[in-house]
Amino acid sequence: MYLEEQPTKAGVLSCIFSLKEEVGALAKALRLFEEKGINLMHIESRPSRMNKEEFEFFVSVDTTCSKALDEVINGLRTQISGHVHELSRSKKSDTVPWFPKQIQELDRFANQILSYGSELDSDHPGFIDPVYRARRKEFADIAYNYKHGEPIPRVEYTEDEKKTWGVVFRELKTLYPKYACREHNRVFPLLEKYCGYRQDNIPQLEDISRYLRSCTGFRLRPVAGLLSSRDFLAGLAFRVFHSTQYIRHGSQPMYTPEPDICHELLGHVPLFADPGFAQFSQEIGLASLGAPDNFIEKLATVYWFTVEFGLCKQGSEVRAYGAGLLSSFGELQYCLSDKPKILPFDPEKTSVQKYPITEFQPIYFVAESFEDAKEKVRYGGDDLLTVRYNAYTQSIEVLDSTQQLRNLASWISSDMGILCNALQKMD
Ligand SMILES: [Fe+2]
Repeated sequence: MYLEEQPTKAGVLSCIFSLKEEVGALAKALRLFEEKGINLMHIESRPSRMNKEEFEFFVSVDTTCSKALDEVINGLRTQISGHVHELSRSKKSDTVPWFPKQIQELDRFANQILSYGSELDSDHPGFIDPVYRARRKEFADIAYNYKHGEPIPRVEYTEDEKKTWGVVFRELKTLYPKYACREHNRVFPLLEKYCGYRQDNIPQLEDISRYLRSCTGFRLRPVAGLLSSRDFLAGLAFRVFHSTQYIRHGSQPMYTPEPDICHELLGHVPLFADPGFAQFSQEIGLASLGAPDNFIEKLATVYWFTVEFGLCKQGSEVRAYGAGLLSSFGELQYCLSDKPKILPFDPEKTSVQKYPITEFQPIYFVAESFEDAKEKVRYGGDDLLTVRYNAYTQSIEVLDSTQQLRNLASWISSDMGILCNALQKMD
């Protein structure tokens, strides 16, 4: 391996070319660089592995020489060497926005929240309630100081808070058998059994996070306020869901202007325990890593119409799987009435659909299945990175080097071995 083979290094272009082993060959090649005024930052050589009579040269130049390098590469190809390989020309490595590569790096988002959870708008039901505001600050502080790997601090909820939860829990639970998707209805009783879902008890995030990990590897982490779409989606790439821990104001139990623990626990959590849905959510997250802003906006819209407000076909029926619906007594009934417009889920169209955030949705999109939605969301645009989550190291691998592809091939090969073995036994 070459020492400097770092194709993702910002601001550097690299290429390899081979030359026949003869006196003056390298000097001729270097003259092409000199003629175009290109200063080489790095050069290495080694005997060619493909042709014993040749030597290979690896060179790096500054990206400001991009245009001149084109001409030099043409010159190398036509005049000197038949074999020129560009390593980092098309990567746009200096323009890819930063994204977390290790799960611990999600800790950085705590400092990047758009607004702290205790700052309420003037029309918020808790705006003039100093007790509620102080309570919100407590929750925001827990999340702000949270670090990956720590248990999520347990919270002693007050009687008033439990009462609010109880009203929401009781009302929504009566609707689920008729309106919620099969996956939600399958998991809900398990949450009652293992995670303390009860009318008189607000479950603890730590207990739920542990349970989700055992089902799909998804985990929760508390969040102190609003995250940008880019950061929120990046969490999903690691199967991490940023969850609020506070509850809505008790004066209006059936209304909240922002996500609260009722929305997270009743709407989102049951679905994250389903393998197909978990994979779909992670797929959206992975697609967002390092993507340009306009693509993030499209993904956030897809997220809105699926994870938040999605409907899906189940047999001859249509059911709700979006958390915004499953946590709203009114909208859950409305979305399956004949009032809204229902369209088939199609990322191309769905990703550019405008939507209101403070009222019931006028349009919903219906997916054939999570599997189908996942396939449709997978996107391979040239300007996007191809990434993969390594669950063993809990890190993101950017598939842009032959070594990465070799590693992946080796994983797949090992899995294929297991699959073939299992198939043979069935025969
Ligand atoms: Fe949500």
